[in-house]
Amino acid sequence: MQLIHKDLLGIQQLTVDEINLILDTAETMKMVLQANSKRTAHLQGKSIVTLFYENSTRTRLSFEMASKFMSAASANIATSSSSVNKGESLVDTARTIDMMATDILIMRHGESGAPHLIAPRVKASVINAGDGMNEHPTQALLDFFTMRQKKGGIKGLRVAIIGDVLHSRVARSNLWGLIKLGAEVRLAAPPTMMPVGLAEMGAVVCPSVRDAVQGADVIMALRIQLERMRTAMFPSISEYARFFALDDDAIRSAKPDAIIMHPGPCNHGVEMPTHIYDSSQSVINEQVTNGVAVRMAIMYLLQARRNVG
Ligand code: CP
Repeated sequence: MQLIHKDLLGIQQLTVDEINLILDTAETMKMVLQANSKRTAHLQGKSIVTLFYENSTRTRLSFEMASKFMSAASANIATSSSSVNKGESLVDTARTIDMMATDILIMRHGESGAPHLIAPRVKASVINAGDGMNEHPTQALLDFFTMRQKKGGIKGLRVAIIGDVLHSRVARSNLWGLIKLGAEVRLAAPPTMMPVGLAEMGAVVCPSVRDAVQGADVIMALRIQLERMRTAMFPSISEYARFFALDDDAIRSAKPDAIIMHPGPCNHGVEMPTHIYDSSQSVINEQVTNGVAVRMAIMYLLQARRNVG
């Protein structure tokens, strides 16, 4: 079994078998991470470039670390000091990178669909590291991996997703995948931050955090995406936190062994207080480690597909 497409653009395009293949491969990669020597030869002689038009700590660094652990030659383009600032287009930038014998191009862009524009125009495999409000597939895959490790599987889980659903590419990728994998997804957000059409996708739209979290196996809080809001969508941060921050009361209504997730970076005191972020139920730090294993798996599988042709 191998991945169907040259590129990884979204969870929407992946089959259940492909998602499971990535998660199974990530189990092996996590063992590599836990070993004394983290070096493998899986990407020896291959070249990886990260092209990020938006800020990132976790995604960019984990791809760069994953590339190094698998012996690839890796480079990063800082758009702030590249010819993008001389007006070079996204397509010309990507084609220039492609012509330097790049095997995998990892890109993050503020506009939804940017990696979909590039993928058919380059020979390299394109990985979507987040495109606008559309998808963040590698984040969702590391979330699925974390849920699977903690809960033994995803089918039948009740997953509550809380916060800025409207602007969240993490929420959208999780929704596509969790519903495909047979989880029940319950959403809570301020009415101005809940897009229409999610019930038609199979999610349960709840009137409050408490309703969404009731009986949950997994609670995922989302970051408020202030950078994507053209106008204020709630009266104040403190008012948002009063109604939509996770609190001890809400968590008590979930299953006693529920896990708490957040894609990061977290606004402490807004999406959840620090004591919940640091609690024994929180798996937020493990999500970060799992992100490296999952990104190793994705690059390995894309490269294996390239080798077959
Ligand atoms: N979760 C996530 O995408 O984090 P970064 O923005 O730090 O990459």
